[in-house]
Amino acid sequence: MPRIPLIAGNWKMFKTIPETVDFCLRLKDEITALQGKKVDVAVAPPFNSLAAAAQALRGTQVFLAAQDVFWAESGAYTGEVAPRMLKDAGCCMAIVGHSERRQYFHETDESVNRKAAALLKEGLIPIVCVGETLAERKEKLTFRVVERQIRDGLKGLAVNDPLQLVIAYEPVWAIGTGQTATPQQAQEVQAFIRKLLGEVFSPPIARGMRILYGGSVKPDNTAELMAMEDVDGALVGGASLEIKSFGQIIQRA
Ligand code: 13P
Repeated sequence: MPRIPLIAGNWKMFKTIPETVDFCLRLKDEITALQGKKVDVAVAPPFNSLAAAAQALRGTQVFLAAQDVFWAESGAYTGEVAPRMLKDAGCCMAIVGHSERRQYFHETDESVNRKAAALLKEGLIPIVCVGETLAERKEKLTFRVVERQIRDGLKGLAVNDPLQLVIAYEPVWAIGTGQTATPQQAQEVQAFIRKLLGEVFSPPIARGMRILYGGSVKPDNTAELMAMEDVDGALVGGASLEIKSFGQIIQRA
């Protein structure tokens, strides 16, 4: 079965609640204009805007995602948000292991694994981010780093349908730098990830699972990236903040 592309916007720490609602209402029009095109769309606003975004997106097929989650069901964890709370706010997905969280908030493969497991248990779709730094690429460690992130991050997860989980390959050197990976660089790593998914889960799961590319995705480079066999969509940062550029990326997916 062909993989339906997924274009997901990671808003990071941008937009107020009114800005979120305005964007979501405009996104509704973009989606209506897509009629018949097979592409899934997701947006990931900050936690405080999730419920308002869910309300504004009601009646659309747009998936609502959180940018992070904590693995416990509830408890004394000041500042954290549980999977069930995300579901309650209207989310069906959550990003885990984004490189900014690994870099600034001490996210590890082990915490990524616990978060992904907790999301799956609640019936939410983890978008698990992996990717090497510039120094790691220069030292030719890309495949070793990505393999560790995939094997340790996905260890023991109960996945029996390929749509239960999404992978995002985001080379750290391409995030917010304007230095997009070439389609060949993305394909090379993403084919490797798919091979690993076959070992971690099973070949049929690997064939159906979506692997997104992220890192300076813009309307101009979307089509060439998406033309690659193992690039099944994009995790978009900066260009997902404006409805015009996000809409163009969706159109070109
Ligand atoms: P940019 O698209 O701004 O490079 O960000 C990518 C990203 O980090 C998405 O999660």
